[in-house]
Amino acid sequence: MAGSYSLAFLLFCFVFSPVFAQPQPTSFILNGFNRSESKLTLEGGSIIRPSGALKLTNKSHDTIGHAFYSEPIQMLDKKSSPSPNASSFSTTFVFAIVPPSSGRGGHGLAFTLSPSKQFPGAAAGHYMGIFNSNTDALPSNHIFAVEFDTVNGFNDDSDSEGNHVGVNINSMYSKAMEPASYYLNNTERNEEIKLESGDPIHAWIEYDGSFVNVTISPLNRDKPSKPLISYPIGLTPFVEETMYVGFSASTGKMPSSHFILGWSFSTNGEASQLNISQLPVPPPNEKNGSSFDPLIIGLIVALSTVTVLLLGILIYFTLYKRNGKSEDLEDWELECPHRFRYKDLYAATRGFKQSEIIGVGGFGAVYKGVLPTTGTEVAVKKINRNSIQGPREFAAEIESLGRLRHKNLVNLQGWCKQKNDLLLIYDYIPNGSLHSLLFNQKQGFVLSWEQRFNIIKGIAAGLLYLHEEWELVVIHRDVKSSNVLIDAEMNARLGDFGLARLYDHGTDSHTTNIVGTVGYIAPEFARNGKASTSSDVFAYGVLLLEVVSGKKPVDSRNFFLVDWVIECHQMGQILDTTDPKLNSSYVIEEVKLVLLLGLLCSHPKPEVRPSMRKVVRYLNGDDQLPSIDNWDSFGARDGTYSKFLEIISFDSITKSYRSSSTGGITSNSICTGR
Ligand SMILES: *[C@@H]1O[C@H](CO)[C@@H](O)[C@H](O)[C@H]1NC(C)=O
Ligand SMILES: *[C@@H]1O[C@H](CO)[C@@H](O)[C@H](O)[C@H]1NC(C)=O
Ligand SMILES: *[C@@H]1O[C@H](CO)[C@@H](O)[C@H](O)[C@H]1NC(C)=O
Ligand SMILES: *[C@@H]1O[C@H](CO)[C@@H](O)[C@H](O)[C@H]1NC(C)=O
Ligand SMILES: *[C@@H]1O[C@H](CO)[C@@H](O)[C@H](O)[C@H]1NC(C)=O
Ligand SMILES: *[C@@H]1O[C@H](CO)[C@@H](O)[C@H](O)[C@H]1NC(C)=O
Repeated sequence: MAGSYSLAFLLFCFVFSPVFAQPQPTSFILNGFNRSESKLTLEGGSIIRPSGALKLTNKSHDTIGHAFYSEPIQMLDKKSSPSPNASSFSTTFVFAIVPPSSGRGGHGLAFTLSPSKQFPGAAAGHYMGIFNSNTDALPSNHIFAVEFDTVNGFNDDSDSEGNHVGVNINSMYSKAMEPASYYLNNTERNEEIKLESGDPIHAWIEYDGSFVNVTISPLNRDKPSKPLISYPIGLTPFVEETMYVGFSASTGKMPSSHFILGWSFSTNGEASQLNISQLPVPPPNEKNGSSFDPLIIGLIVALSTVTVLLLGILIYFTLYKRNGKSEDLEDWELECPHRFRYKDLYAATRGFKQSEIIGVGGFGAVYKGVLPTTGTEVAVKKINRNSIQGPREFAAEIESLGRLRHKNLVNLQGWCKQKNDLLLIYDYIPNGSLHSLLFNQKQGFVLSWEQRFNIIKGIAAGLLYLHEEWELVVIHRDVKSSNVLIDAEMNARLGDFGLARLYDHGTDSHTTNIVGTVGYIAPEFARNGKASTSSDVFAYGVLLLEVVSGKKPVDSRNFFLVDWVIECHQMGQILDTTDPKLNSSYVIEEVKLVLLLGLLCSHPKPEVRPSMRKVVRYLNGDDQLPSIDNWDSFGARDGTYSKFLEIISFDSITKSYRSSSTGGITSNSICTGR
């Protein structure tokens, strides 16, 4: 009886409530989630942890999780107008993406606005549990999503690391996309945020009828005033009358755990601020989140340690007993996303055929190749591993260098180890090196001044990125014309990071052996073996003089380009140093600027040299080059530079390099610099 009564009551509500219902704005705030009275509909791998954290994906690979607010949200108010506009909305949430303990994971999570809480047939990985290859891009999807993704793939078809935020409509191809970062207030500088760090990240998404703004910041900071993405769009054509709002996440080959720690949402107004102190803390890693008691955890850890040790010993013996006919993989190698298969490289270079060699450097030969899987052209550098110590450290270095991306760098795509060889895979750059364009012209080809000036600016931009704009300071260590490649659009691409060692911002570079190329080595670097950003600036300065004059930095034991340019300048004839092949067709002001800047950069005193940021400003005419009156301080008169080169004769450099014992690549490019 009671049952039918309540049924009748429900029916009553169902039939009559719409008549009385005003289009109420929806708004809710969840400072953490409650398992027993969840306001969310969970699907796939999603669960609410006892701590109050919403965990969207479990530890399986290629899996999906959804969590949507159970009630629908009114996005179009059809009653008030026949052609209503999509309602504005604002949301803020805190999420954390915890990678697997083995290293990198995938994929990411997306704030999603969808006509349904179900996504039948949706795929994991790049599709993030929202679309699949058939439904992607269908206008009938009516789905709006903001993705927080850690893997590239949709917009550039690779599977490389891609720490990005994107605004998506009906498709995983983002309409707008930015590397995950946030702007510091009142500056144009943005700081990278690693989505996959496991640290909680605060996100805001706002739609005001004409813009979708997306902002992220580390949890402990205030909201940045400038959004990361401000994408102009009206959502009216894309939404339906009622929509569901929530999160979708997916794992890829490697599973990350995706957590939402708190969530606030509102239509027609700003979402209430989350109370950070009430949010659950994300587990620092999966172990802490487990519900086993510490004794059992201890036992498991002990047992696994023993197993790992035994396995390690087993692997060690198997690997070292075998002759290495097939690809020998050490376990750590499997975790490196930039590793290529030897088989593919062998096929790409037609078995490392002599005819595919496009260059020979200090390390060994460089082959041109076409990857069989993708048809991409690559340059493969084959380095004999005997000259390298600690392949594992090397791999770690390469893995992080592989993440450097700039239009003026030759991108390192990856690496591969085979017996005694290490192979580095770079983008293939068609026009060869700056050195060969300056000195071995084919059929009377001469780089014009305009091209040279553009190349000079490109190198500066690439170096600035290495020095100041990436998360770590990267010192190139071997800036020279043969390490600058020229692409199809005649832009400079700085290559060969083999010599670059990584330094954390702020820490002092430790002393290492001298590796560099005679003529480009800064005096203090030769003396104390400490490479620094200003020793790179020195080499850049020499390179500038080389590009203008078409002369090699050290052409014989008696010719030193820097000294010669200083002498000409002191005699008031600096334009005499320009390359005769230019035939006097150049912009005098630009040539003078570059020559004087070259001298300033190659000043013997490191403290006098400008930073690369300053160099870029000088080249763009944003700052005036300081005038250098006291040329004696260069030591040109008494030939300090040449003297210094004599003192650290070729022999002693080579010796100090040979006796080196630190890891990383040591190169003998000293002997083959020119
Ligand atoms: C979760 O909801 C239940 C049932 O309403 C309530 O008793 C409990 O106190 C809530 N837990 C928290 C942590 O708020
Ligand atoms: C993870 O979630 C999926 C559902 O999406 C389920 O099929 C799978 O069994 C789960 N794996 C584990 C380890 O719980
Ligand atoms: C929809 O938005 C447009 C442009 O902002 C405005 O001119 C129009 O009046 C709006 N329509 C309704 C029904 O609010
Ligand atoms: C979005 O950002 C733009 C600036 O890029 C700003 O003019 C606009 O007011 C912002 N809208 C919201 C809803 O924050
Ligand atoms: C940035 O500016 C906004 C708005 O002016 C302010 O609310 C916020 O506290 C500032 N953030 C920081 C980190 O100073
Ligand atoms: C946040 O939560 C704490 C602890 O529950 C409470 O003391 C504090 O007043 C709350 N702050 C706000 C702004 O609501």
